[in-house]
Amino acid sequence: MTTINDNYLKLKAGYLFPEIARRVNTFAQANPDAKIIRLGIGDVTEPLPEACRMAMIQAVEDMGSRNTFKGYGPEQGYTWLREKIAENDFHRYGCTVDADEIFISDGSKCDTGNILDIFGDDNIIAVTDPVYPVYVDTNVMAGHSGEVNNQGEYEGFVYLPITAENDFTAQLPTQKVDLIYLCFPNNPTGATATKEHLQAWVNYAKENHSIILFDAAYEAFISDPSVPHSIYEIEGARDCAIEFRSFSKTAGFTGTRCAFTVVPKTLTGKARNGSDVELWKLWNRRQSTKFNGVSYIVQRAAEAIYSDAGKAQVKDLIRFYMDNAKIIRDKLTEAGLTVYGGTNAPYVWVKTPHGLTSWDFFDKLLQTVNVVGTPGSGFGAAGEGYFRISAFNSRENVEEAMRRITEKFRE
Ligand code: MLT
Repeated sequence: MTTINDNYLKLKAGYLFPEIARRVNTFAQANPDAKIIRLGIGDVTEPLPEACRMAMIQAVEDMGSRNTFKGYGPEQGYTWLREKIAENDFHRYGCTVDADEIFISDGSKCDTGNILDIFGDDNIIAVTDPVYPVYVDTNVMAGHSGEVNNQGEYEGFVYLPITAENDFTAQLPTQKVDLIYLCFPNNPTGATATKEHLQAWVNYAKENHSIILFDAAYEAFISDPSVPHSIYEIEGARDCAIEFRSFSKTAGFTGTRCAFTVVPKTLTGKARNGSDVELWKLWNRRQSTKFNGVSYIVQRAAEAIYSDAGKAQVKDLIRFYMDNAKIIRDKLTEAGLTVYGGTNAPYVWVKTPHGLTSWDFFDKLLQTVNVVGTPGSGFGAAGEGYFRISAFNSRENVEEAMRRITEKFRE
């Protein structure tokens, strides 16, 4: 009889976003006239920048002629894209990242899960709480945890609470941990990290020979010049950090799929025989074996983000969503709610009113004003009592959702 990976049985309920979709669908079926506005999952709504579309059209044409046709590309991504990324996303901020340390992929969700392939099973994992659920669930699937307790926490993981009380800044662990997941600008709280805070993490990681898995998927939404864009702006980070970036939110690529991961050649981990092994070699081996790269057409679209027109169009797109975030912040504040985030990140983190639990508030908003958000407790125990509202939607929908919520709370 074939056996299964029993670790999947340890996972609590469904993955957060499909679970929300399930509840919303049930409500929609029972209330077919309800005009539901979805500000739950952070999925973009605005069209792909024109520069990207034009590049895709040209790339499709390239595929139509034997001279320019492309078969398998390099598993790591085309050099022309990796070089543009190195220059525009890293050298511009004074970071040392070589083009061949950049691996193009089809998404940061996949990469943050897949990266576990190159690490041992005995590492101690640290995550913030609340946290993007993929970091936790992929480690559970890989067998890195014990069972889940009543608070929804898995045995064996180190949880670092981030709440309003500590200004959404995790304390460094008091024990030794091996893999540390950090996400800044933060999903779900919308908080940012200062250089000093990141320096403390890098110092900790170097002292403890740990690796930081730094998710910077929302980097493009930073407007405060003092906020670091990359972990590699921090001294010593090349010796202890892998960074994940995505075009999904930056340039509307959630359906187009393109992202990248930086694995510096200076990073090492310990083999069982005690030798130090370059992580870059392992990740390169992993990608060459299990991945055939992102399509040529999509990589050309990603490259166009770095053209003058592409840069201007992406800037407009980001401004559009951040104007939405401002509307959400202002209207919810006017309605008497306490809000965080939403200034350097497209997520507004709301304190639930009247001591409601996160899911109670979810139900209340869905049932009374037909607005969908994401319950904070879905991101971890310390997210209880909070609620995330995404700024990714049309202006019309954001304004309408805020109008309904403010009216409801004025009652
Ligand atoms: C979110 O809503 O947190 C994101 O859309 C999830 C993701 O990027 O996978």
